Amino acid sequence: MCGIVGILSHEPVAQRLVDGLKRLEYRGYDSAGIAVINDNKIRRCRSQGKIVNLDARLAQEKIDGVIGIAHTRWATHGMPTEENAHPHMTEEVAIVHNGIIENYKVLRDDLIEKGFSFYSQTDSEVIAQLLTFFEKESTSHLEAIFKTLDKLEGAYALGIMFKADPTRLYGMRKGSPLAIGHGEKGEMFLGSDALALAGLAENLTYLEDGDLAVLTRDNIEIFDKDHKKAIRPSQRYTAGFEAISKAPYDHFMLKEIYEQPDVVRQTLNTYLSADKKSLSFPKLTFDPDSISKLTIVACGTSYYAGLVAKYWIEQIARISVDVDIASEFRYRQPPMPKEGVALFISQSGETADTMAAHEYAVSERQQTLGIINVPNSSLARAVHTPLMTYAGPEIGVASTKAFSTQLCVLAAFALHLAHERGLVSSEKLEQHCHDLASLPNALEQVLGLAASCKDIAEDLSKAQDILYIGRGTSYAIALEGALKLKEISYIHAEGCAAGELKHGPIALVDENVPVIVVAPSDALFEKLASNVQEAAARKGQVVFISDKKGQQAYHGDALARLTVPDTTVFTAPFIYTVPVQLLAYYTAVHKGTDVDQPRNLAKSVTVE
Ligand code: G6P
Repeated sequence: MCGIVGILSHEPVAQRLVDGLKRLEYRGYDSAGIAVINDNKIRRCRSQGKIVNLDARLAQEKIDGVIGIAHTRWATHGMPTEENAHPHMTEEVAIVHNGIIENYKVLRDDLIEKGFSFYSQTDSEVIAQLLTFFEKESTSHLEAIFKTLDKLEGAYALGIMFKADPTRLYGMRKGSPLAIGHGEKGEMFLGSDALALAGLAENLTYLEDGDLAVLTRDNIEIFDKDHKKAIRPSQRYTAGFEAISKAPYDHFMLKEIYEQPDVVRQTLNTYLSADKKSLSFPKLTFDPDSISKLTIVACGTSYYAGLVAKYWIEQIARISVDVDIASEFRYRQPPMPKEGVALFISQSGETADTMAAHEYAVSERQQTLGIINVPNSSLARAVHTPLMTYAGPEIGVASTKAFSTQLCVLAAFALHLAHERGLVSSEKLEQHCHDLASLPNALEQVLGLAASCKDIAEDLSKAQDILYIGRGTSYAIALEGALKLKEISYIHAEGCAAGELKHGPIALVDENVPVIVVAPSDALFEKLASNVQEAAARKGQVVFISDKKGQQAYHGDALARLTVPDTTVFTAPFIYTVPVQLLAYYTAVHKGTDVDQPRNLAKSVTVE
């Protein structure tokens, strides 16, 4: 959510700032801008909308300098206009900010009383004005920054440069991530994540919460939250540019859907033994036998992965599971069991609500696990046991491959708990591991439904409301399917437990409402088929997703049928996810929406 790049060099930086922003555009794309220092002046270029607009503007304005900061914005305070675009600046200082300054109104009113003028509706501008105020009454820029930070409440990652000192770039973080890249030729970089710095620097230092870094061309000095000098390790990060090209696909989302067989294989390789007959699960910091309850907390698609896991873990490992939306969990302040265990799922590892929920769980003395895709992310570093997924960088805002890899870890976790608790025999475990290991092939097969999904999507794209229904783990997939569709096609969609249809949602059903049915032939199939008949009887346009057996068993009307490969009950969620992803994708393509960067959304949500 909002991206930051900063460069301190001896060569012009404007083009590399913009290139860095392009890699960060998935974090927000409401507006973008850069500021550089040149001829003893801060020069700025900003534009509304995507970075191509900024590129075009820069081609005319041609500003450049050897020090600069840049930002791509996901609007929180103030419309996505040029005036509200970052960097924000005064004559003396320019800043880029990711996060929210919660007390900005009080600070702003106070500064206005002191004679300062504001030019945007943002919370961020107050930081530039405060720095300007404190610069005058401080003996150093560092002192002015410390005084400013003391006043700020909320979350931030910041990049700062002062006109009076073009040899220093300042970066700091509280609640939002920030990394420093060590260049090889007397250059230093700031980036809100490793992707921003890909191709610029291979040696990265991640700031800890509360850190302030002072960058010169050949050195960094870090101060911790108590203003004491601190040393943070640096690590190599060598992800190349090829990781972020969508070729030969039209969209990152489609590429990422097609990557699922590979990334599922890679993730399973870590959690299954080499012969794929047993698990290879990391050592846990708790005894699975003594857990009374497991709490799973996440947001968005990651939350739905958690919901699938609730069914798995309760059924196989017989541990009761609470699944919570992070933004609700943290403020509800639920009592947590003594010696309890809490699991956090996050593709980015930076989602503010999930991070805060984790903090709460730690304060409740829980052992914490995290299922995370981004190495070195804040959550990966905070949990007691990080369980990594190997989806590779996910660029499409709508999460697809990350979800499938989260399911891999959750499936292995459920089996591991069950085995440790003596609830699955080694033979049964071997069977489950074999089923998981055959998923990449089954996923390849189910991708063969793309052409049929594209056809069905033409009808779906004309709808105003679409219902998704399922039972058991397929209820979670119905919810995920509905979320995917609304995120990228802007069609209203609702996922519901099929049994709940008659308690309300069926009132929506008429001949204009497609009802997408996630229907593996399992123990709940008959019940689900009856619910589908109820919808079909009201002229709902049924899209029936099932295996061969299920298709034969369903005799009702259907607008379309999608026949997926046979699965076990346990592996069904992996396979049924793909058609709902493809339906959402092609519906959005038919509608002509911006699939990879849908309106109003951002990939990494680092504000509450
Ligand atoms: C945003 C993204 C979703 C994602 C959710 C949780 O809303 O658009 O795709 O599922 O954040 O993100 P996380 O990184 O914590 O999994």
